[in-house]
Amino acid sequence: MYAVAIPADNEVAYVLSIFYDAGYIQERIHRLWINSFWRASVQAFLITLATFFLIYFNVMAPIKKTTEWIRRIRKGESVPRLDAKGELLLGPLAQEITQMAKSLEMARFAAEEEARLRYSSESRWTPERLKEVVRLKLKGKPLFAVSNREPYMHIHNGNRIECIVPASGLVTALEPVLNACGGTWIAQGSGDADKETVDKHDKIRVPVQEPKYTLRRVWVDKDVEEGFYCGFSNEGLWPLCHIAHTRPIFRSKDWDDYKTVNKRFAEAVLQEIDGVPEPHILIQDYHFAPLPRLIKAARPDARVAIFWHIPWPNPESFGICPWRKDLLQGMLGADLVGFHTQFHCNNFIESVDRFLECRIDYEHFTVNREGHTTWIKPFAISIDSNPVDGAQPQAPSTKEGLLKPHGIQANWLGVGVDRLDYTKGIVERFRAIENLLDNHPSFRGKFTFVELGAPSRTMIPKYKEFIDEIVKETERINAKFKMKNWQPILLLMKHHSHKDIIPFYKAADACMVTSLHDGMNLVAKEFIAARDDEQGVLVLSQFTGASRELNDALIVNPYDIAQMSEALKQALEMPDKEQAERMKRMRDIIKDNNIYRWAGELVGQLTQVRIEGEESLA
Ligand code: G6P
Repeated sequence: MYAVAIPADNEVAYVLSIFYDAGYIQERIHRLWINSFWRASVQAFLITLATFFLIYFNVMAPIKKTTEWIRRIRKGESVPRLDAKGELLLGPLAQEITQMAKSLEMARFAAEEEARLRYSSESRWTPERLKEVVRLKLKGKPLFAVSNREPYMHIHNGNRIECIVPASGLVTALEPVLNACGGTWIAQGSGDADKETVDKHDKIRVPVQEPKYTLRRVWVDKDVEEGFYCGFSNEGLWPLCHIAHTRPIFRSKDWDDYKTVNKRFAEAVLQEIDGVPEPHILIQDYHFAPLPRLIKAARPDARVAIFWHIPWPNPESFGICPWRKDLLQGMLGADLVGFHTQFHCNNFIESVDRFLECRIDYEHFTVNREGHTTWIKPFAISIDSNPVDGAQPQAPSTKEGLLKPHGIQANWLGVGVDRLDYTKGIVERFRAIENLLDNHPSFRGKFTFVELGAPSRTMIPKYKEFIDEIVKETERINAKFKMKNWQPILLLMKHHSHKDIIPFYKAADACMVTSLHDGMNLVAKEFIAARDDEQGVLVLSQFTGASRELNDALIVNPYDIAQMSEALKQALEMPDKEQAERMKRMRDIIKDNNIYRWAGELVGQLTQVRIEGEESLA
């Protein structure tokens, strides 16, 4: 209310009163409160609902899924891998649990295998048995392995660092050994992100997900790397030992670089074994012929073995190397020299006999030179025939599923897995496929061969030429027979992981290993290990070490195209029963002669070497 006095004649004559009704304000405030209340309630409800869904889908559902997954693992059921991708909150946890489950599964698998072997009183080699044997024989001391190629390579991929396993038979074989026994693997750091991933002593524990042993990386300067790796190792020794009709190239500069890098590795090994009495060192392959002698000169108490993963040629062929004596002297620095086959041991000892002054004992296969005895023995290398990853169910491996993404339909599938190397007989293999389609038109439109080829040593001209040649051959043969939705050869040229390869092994009707010469060839053994359905046929070159063991493969001469093509036909038409009989026998062989036996026997022999008297190895 507002009142104003209105005077007249000096006195208040009137009073003007103004009344304003403000009741509506109260009412509006009241309505505002009510509205706000409802709005807040609806918002609170929506937020609660959204939070619930967020928590449910990101936390509760994954926890429920993980719990169910763990329960099934605990009960020993076979379950697919847990996919942690996209699960932001629980991703890291899921990864850890996956690792834990893998360890649990490995432990269960090992226990079952041990129990089974005890029950059937078989004496099969397992990782546990190897670990125990090595622990006892080495009296708890660590094992040292040396190779040029490292088991894990770190490379940049965009702004991420990726860890890959290089395509190398040596790595396939040696990795399970180090995984079982622990120790240190000394190898050249060759990935472009390798330096970023090691500690200040150039070491990294691997496998990164579940470390079991130490990888010590050695850095080799660019100026000597080329002569050492491309030059003397791969343009000289590789063709010299393989005799695949590629002429070896020997350059003095390469030989000097080879020696320099061997000295560099000797320093690294001596650093690692410092303080370890009578260390056991397993040197791998043709990159390190001088290394045994260099190590023994500094540490006569060390027990040194060198295992040559590639063939050893006859003395006439070996004799063309200008540094043949130096190579032999370097290798004879070792206490034990190993090859895959007795045939290569024979060639080696004959080469020693031809080129060096020494005393050879043919009964024990030893060489005595300057008071030092070296034992020459065969040890057939192999694979882990029961990898836990292999035991895990894979994505279904069907021909249709594998070929469809490439626009191909086929009834029969053949597979080849190789480093793209001129010793692997890939061109000959393709010509055998062409011959099959020429002579047996019923296979046209029905048989496709997939070549999973990993480019290798591409800085060496011969390898570049070879890749061009197989690309051209593939194009030529495909152009000759190609039909709608079908082609005879599918060449997939890239680095393939083991996981990429397994489905092809599992789905293939035939696997072709047609090397012109090969120390062992582990692809043949991996194919057999993958075939738990006991189906599929292996076509195998007689010039591989593997052909000495795997008599149930269809053994071929890769230079004989017609014979290879007939063997392929026989493989594709083989009745299931015969496939199963052959596959079962081959599976038994590789289960017995697995990589743990190879390592157990090699280390066993090395521990028997008597460092002074040197007469105890039988
Ligand atoms: C062969 C050799 C190995 C080598 C592998 C791959 O298997 O015996 O020593 O690691 O080829 O070759 P790379 O030159 O890539 O190491």
